[in-house]
Amino acid sequence: MPASSLSFRIAVSLAVIGILMGIAMAATQNHAVMPAHAHLNLLGWVSLFLFGIYYKLHPATDVSHLARVQIMVWTAGTVVLTIAVAAIHLGYTAADPVAGMSSLVVLTGMGLFGYLVFKPVSSQTRAGSLQPAE
Ligand code: HEM
Repeated sequence: MPASSLSFRIAVSLAVIGILMGIAMAATQNHAVMPAHAHLNLLGWVSLFLFGIYYKLHPATDVSHLARVQIMVWTAGTVVLTIAVAAIHLGYTAADPVAGMSSLVVLTGMGLFGYLVFKPVSSQTRAGSLQPAE
């Protein structure tokens, strides 16, 4: 599966969970997990959707194994970070190191994305995308 499709599918799934979290907060008038809701929606929905758009615009990167790895690293970091942030705000301060570790996983995910964005485009890809019409 191309990285963009993977990214869009996970983004939508996490958005549903993030929205349900927001509705639960509003319904119970208990906003304790608001930071977890905000992180899940912004890292899980918005960022993953933006990654997906980038990959869709760069077909050679879209089919690369590393792009799929980047999406999975980002997803793992986001899910664990969201749970840890929720736990901390519910009073389980022992989750603090988990939040710290998962934030580094999220950073690694952005590092991988940065590598894919900055790495030089191969001459083959460049030639392929500039083929004149015959
Ligand atoms: C039906 C959908 C949603 C509901 C019912 C909802 C509900 C809420 C509630 C009740 C709060 C707490 C506000 C407070 O305590 O001041 C909140 C905060 C927040 N939500 Fe949502 N939310 C929804 C969707 C989203 C989405 C899609 C995003 C991002 C793309 C988002 C991002 C945020 C952010 C960043 C905050 C923190 C705002 C602040 O710091 O004051 N929410 N949301």
